[in-house]
Amino acid sequence: EKGTYPHFMLKEIDEQPFVIRNIIQKYQNDDGTVRLDENIREAMKSSDRIYIIAAGTSYHAGLVGKQLIEKIAGRPVEVHIASEFLYNMPLLSENPLFIFISQSGETADLRGVLVEVKEKGYKTLTVTNVPGSTLSREADFTLHTHAGPEIAVASTKAYTAQMAVLTILAVDTANSKGTKLDFDPIQELGIVASAMETLCDQKEKLEQIARDYLSTTRNCFFIGRAADYFVCLEGALKLKEISYIQAEGFAGGELKHGTIALIEDGTPVIAIATQEHVNLSIRGNVKEVAARGANPCIVSMEGLEHDGDAFVIPKVHEYLTSLVTVIPLQLISYYAALHRDCDVDKPRNLAKSVTVE
Ligand code: F6R
Repeated sequence: EKGTYPHFMLKEIDEQPFVIRNIIQKYQNDDGTVRLDENIREAMKSSDRIYIIAAGTSYHAGLVGKQLIEKIAGRPVEVHIASEFLYNMPLLSENPLFIFISQSGETADLRGVLVEVKEKGYKTLTVTNVPGSTLSREADFTLHTHAGPEIAVASTKAYTAQMAVLTILAVDTANSKGTKLDFDPIQELGIVASAMETLCDQKEKLEQIARDYLSTTRNCFFIGRAADYFVCLEGALKLKEISYIQAEGFAGGELKHGTIALIEDGTPVIAIATQEHVNLSIRGNVKEVAARGANPCIVSMEGLEHDGDAFVIPKVHEYLTSLVTVIPLQLISYYAALHRDCDVDKPRNLAKSVTVE
């Protein structure tokens, strides 16, 4: 039920801090160690390469998940769009582990890959919000994202939950290899939950940003570098699907290789700046588009902000910024859709789960 909320999407955005805390609780023992099925631990340990297969928003979570697993656990990961994988099958390693990320657990594109790789005898793990779902039943193992039912067609809390669970999987793999980490990622997830709460309390400001930048525009670009690029893809998808504004996410350095031709007077460009090592270069990209008339809206992180930034997120660990940055992007999309009189919870042409290829 929506309760006092006008839309499921808004309710589900607001639930994200609770979801993250719930995940920490579900996957942590009282002594602080990770609680995880021994078979999953073993599968992670014995595989020489992980293949993440997903679609849409879950694919975007997979891109972040790759970085988390590679940086925290030191295991190589590839991420593939489910509907492309079978047609563009990469050369597989000797002992691959396939991870299917799916909110619904019913997406046909993923099932096609699952059936094929199971036939080849490879190990499979489904990360899903619906443990009884097809992908969950058919894979060897399941990790539950514990986000609670997601009703709005546009995925919000399932995305952040997927990234949180992948963080925990990465930590467990690092621990079982005896890797010493110089920070505690699970504690950092707690900080993420608090940061999310702070952001959910800033709706008025985000509504104003949506009004200022997106009320009448035909298109919008999201730019970011390094980890921020992945959240740009998700920000653009969210905006497209519920407000019907043509939106694209780009790596900051790619714009000048063609897309900058689309920048006109007043084109909104939402730039994300949460990564210290690329802070100056993304700001350089902002100058390039501003010089061509764009209307830049910079979303940065505490400690890295500059005068004139439109919105600043609280400081969180650099590996986990996507979980936090996406909240203002979700809310900006929500308010943009609202101002444009769009059906927020049930956008045109879309279904909650896509069970045909
Ligand atoms: C976007 C959205 C879709 C889904 C995609 C995969 O907001 O909801 O892009 O993420 O259809 O769905 P699942 O995760 O159920 O496999």
